[in-house]
Amino acid sequence: METKEYDVQELNEETLTYIDKAAEVLRNDGLVAFPTETVYGLGANALIPEAVAAIYRAKGRPSDNPLIVHVAGIEGCKELTPFWSSTVEKLVKRFWPGPLTLILPKTERVPDITTGGLSTVAIRMPDNPIALELIKRSGCPIAAPSANLSGRPSPTRPEHVIEDLAGRIDVILKGGDCRVGIESTVLDMTGETPTILRPGILTPEEIEAVIGIKVAIDPALLNRPCREASLEETKDIPAPKAPGMKYTHYAPNAEMLIIQGELSRVRKEIEIIKEENERNGRKVGVILFEEEAFIQAAHDFFARLRELDNYGVDLIIAGALSDRNSIGFAVMNRMLKSAGYKVIKV
Ligand code: TXA
Ligand code: MG
Repeated sequence: METKEYDVQELNEETLTYIDKAAEVLRNDGLVAFPTETVYGLGANALIPEAVAAIYRAKGRPSDNPLIVHVAGIEGCKELTPFWSSTVEKLVKRFWPGPLTLILPKTERVPDITTGGLSTVAIRMPDNPIALELIKRSGCPIAAPSANLSGRPSPTRPEHVIEDLAGRIDVILKGGDCRVGIESTVLDMTGETPTILRPGILTPEEIEAVIGIKVAIDPALLNRPCREASLEETKDIPAPKAPGMKYTHYAPNAEMLIIQGELSRVRKEIEIIKEENERNGRKVGVILFEEEAFIQAAHDFFARLRELDNYGVDLIIAGALSDRNSIGFAVMNRMLKSAGYKVIKV
């Protein structure tokens, strides 16, 4: 399949013609990769099962992993969910457009394939003018997972999407670098307590401040086992509620290792392991963010993984961020998966 690439850094007369072409592709059940503020998405008409099936094929994604449906405004939610509480209203008013995905009960209109067979649907309004214009002009809600091959780091730049999906999809709208760099916060609104199923740049504290209700964190996200933990210790950890969170995600081609502890000790340990491996002829890459630079780390992390892979390193050594900070916690969730939970504590 020939993949058309269009440059759409900003909205103007020329780029709107490209967005129109992409919208037309979506109306004809095709696949369009587009920028959002978090990561690039791979979109198809969320209401057409064949169109959604093509997303799973292009990504090589397991079919039990549900997709997020992207809308251009609250209006677009009515056909997707019958549920709209005052709490949902507050969240949407404050955080949309933005990196917040809400899990709500679904209507009959939403095909099972879009929700991986679940009775709930994930909905979000992205904070990116290209994405919003594309959704509006297509006239349909757009199902879009991150635009990477399943298991690869999420794409935060157009070249990442090209690396993974050129030849497999119809259109790539190239809209520059994604502002946030990690995927949206997923908040389950179907239970008694709003529960975070996937941490993101939007923190539980910010959500609590707006709704005045304590937010829970899916217990499966806490105390994830490190390789050092014994099987005895890990057997009682429940499966995560967001099906996607159980897969080993974001894996770079290189082997990866995390060093956790006080910064000067982490630095020293990284140097030791790096030298030892280089002496044995291995190419080593290091990911070490400045302390407390959580937003920067979120922005850079996936791009750094891909950069080091393309550079052909055999081993990536990463310094852990503090997970007492909610954004640090969100980045660590991705970092631990990338490293297959291999952690050395110093
Ligand atoms: O920032 C984002 O959310 C990006 C951009 C493109 O919008 N999208 C994204 O989609 O990250 P994806 O498919 O890579 O991740 C969706 C996550 C998965 O972990 C999935 O299991 C979960 O959301 N999810 C989707 N629908 C769900 C549902 N009904 N119940 C529970 N979890 C759900
Ligand atoms: Mg993804």
